[in-house]
Amino acid sequence: MSPVHAKSNTTPLLDIQDVTLVRGTCKVFDALTLQLNESRIGLIGDNGAGKSSLFRMICGLDAPQSGTVRVRTLDAHQVNTKRPGLVGMMFQNPDDQIIFPTVEEELALGLSPSGISRREAIGRARVFLTSRGLAHWSERTIGSLSQGQRQHVCWLALMIASPELLLLDEPFASLDLPGQALLGIDIAQASQQVIVSTHLLQHVRSFERVIWLDKGQVRADGPGPGVCAAYESDVAVRLAAQALSFNDGPADGANSSH
Ligand SMILES: Nc1ncnc2c1ncn2[C@@H]1O[C@H](COP(=O)(O)OP(=O)(O)OP(=O)(O)O)[C@@H](O)[C@H]1O
Ligand SMILES: [Mg+2]
Repeated sequence: MSPVHAKSNTTPLLDIQDVTLVRGTCKVFDALTLQLNESRIGLIGDNGAGKSSLFRMICGLDAPQSGTVRVRTLDAHQVNTKRPGLVGMMFQNPDDQIIFPTVEEELALGLSPSGISRREAIGRARVFLTSRGLAHWSERTIGSLSQGQRQHVCWLALMIASPELLLLDEPFASLDLPGQALLGIDIAQASQQVIVSTHLLQHVRSFERVIWLDKGQVRADGPGPGVCAAYESDVAVRLAAQALSFNDGPADGANSSH
């Protein structure tokens, strides 16, 4: 499978216009505007920058206080009812995503929009697991899996559901090195539009587009190598400044007795 080169469409695949989003007492986005057409997009930035919040808005879990979020011309909050197979999200925390007690049931859930029976969905889930060398996981209870294995199940659930737009929120975070490599290959081979948030920059550095979010604002937006390098050098500058301030000791008063 080669990635879809979605740029040729005239209507933006994903259109975020002048969005304000408040979560609790925190204004996460203020007048955020983004058009996301590329088939592979990386999302990077510090903890709290707004990566998960952006995904939650795109898949309709959180509605903005003002502005619009449109996916393939549909308002994001209508996607789940009108086109349930359009957007799929892999949650940062697997336990926020997984609903069913066993692996095969969780995977079968992703096939429900296709209208097939539960029995057939379970059968397809088993075939899919076998094709991935994971037949022995079919009847495993989710609670018996490690954190990384649960994250792996979340990715498998998204793969079998095969939505048109994949939002992967820190999908590499708990995976071991072989798991990260395999997920990287799956992402490269996926035919859908994929947006990946990560702190592991090597997984998005080669993407055609990477967006660096900084306190809810777009700090840099462009080809992966340049944006990742800009973020890394900013981090290096901040760490150097922090080290200097640690070396200086407490700001004042600490040496007054000497
Ligand atoms: N449930 C919530 N209620 C209130 N504020 C929240 C909630 N979740 C996140 N926030 C705030 O929204 C802002 C953006 O958080 P978000 O989770 O989107 O960041 P992130 O970039 O995904 O961070 P991380 O790298 O840690 O996953 C932060 O200031 C955070 O404290
Ligand atoms: Mg997050």
